[in-house]
Amino acid sequence: MTQGPAVANFENEVAGYCGAKYAVAVNSGTSALHAACFAAGISSGDEVITSPITFAASSNAVLYCGGKPVFADIDPETVNIDPVNIKARITSKTRALIPVHFAGTPCDLERINEIAKEKNLQVIEDACHALGAAYKGSKIGSCKYSDMTVLSFHAVKHITTGEGGMILTNSEETYQKLLIFRTHGITRDKSKINNSHGDWYYEMQELGYNYRLTDIQAALGISQLKKLDKFVRLRRQIAFRYDQTLADLPRIRSLSVPDQAYSSYHLYVIQVETRMELFDYMRKAGILANVHYLPVYAQPYYLQLGYSKNLCPKAEEYYRSCLSLPMYPKLSGEDQDRVIERLRSFFADLNDGTRASSLPLLESQGN
Ligand SMILES: Cc1ncc(COP(=O)(O)O)c(C=O)c1O
Repeated sequence: MTQGPAVANFENEVAGYCGAKYAVAVNSGTSALHAACFAAGISSGDEVITSPITFAASSNAVLYCGGKPVFADIDPETVNIDPVNIKARITSKTRALIPVHFAGTPCDLERINEIAKEKNLQVIEDACHALGAAYKGSKIGSCKYSDMTVLSFHAVKHITTGEGGMILTNSEETYQKLLIFRTHGITRDKSKINNSHGDWYYEMQELGYNYRLTDIQAALGISQLKKLDKFVRLRRQIAFRYDQTLADLPRIRSLSVPDQAYSSYHLYVIQVETRMELFDYMRKAGILANVHYLPVYAQPYYLQLGYSKNLCPKAEEYYRSCLSLPMYPKLSGEDQDRVIERLRSFFADLNDGTRASSLPLLESQGN
């Protein structure tokens, strides 16, 4: 019922799919990030640079370890962290970088890895949006340009185990740290136990957690993984259809996907000046458009820690204009047509001057 052979099979299959040596399954993407920060040795006073346009878990994991998240501004074209801004935020306390492959589009990993190597920093890829994506021909999760890659199997992700996550790595040492962290910091491995009392004996050597995934979840993960390529193909078809059908609407800007990146499109984000009104207009038609994300440092908890607004102006500008359109493998052509028609009618009314004044402004924030 709890961790058993299906977990090990699921780990082997995901590692094989991504091209990494080792995988450790855990019960959420958040615990995967926490475990990765632990294995990277993040502790009190250490700084870790990440993107402000992400789900709060990317930086919360640094706080769990006593470290300080530092936010570097985004590249407005891709909305991924900008390597130039990473460089500007490095100090003598920086220990690691957590680039987030936002919306499923890989970051500039080669450049990020170069910066990390120069400054002796660890790289933890937050690939919770990016299973099935690739960068310069390598699958995200191969850890070719990083020390660890973190995945989420939350219900809205490319494949799901209900809740669940995984850490991938090519380092045997890191793998061992992750294994022990997942189960209370306890090991039963005889070669690692200092003083063996007998067969019953185990040792707690670190402060770990119960972050185990169950075999039931892993069995679901194995069956989901078989469908991953199909899910990604369908997401990409939906994205290309949005790209093509929205291209003649000058008030809409879609995010770019650089040539070296193969996006697995967790999200399809547009940017519009009239986002507030458009969000409301879509929702009134039962179309659940959403907003990803308020810059993490602008969350009340982070403001209360001393982070100030205006830290990353490009991220804030993006937040004011972004809207995520429906994007999931089962979105039918008919439903996508409804979304596109609704967008078109919004802009037609705007051009007539009937739209902007007739709708109340809506304070929205979706995470
Ligand atoms: C970028 C990112 N990182 C981390 C997480 C955390 O994953 P989980 O919900 O599986 O804990 C999420 C989940 O939405 C995410 O989008």
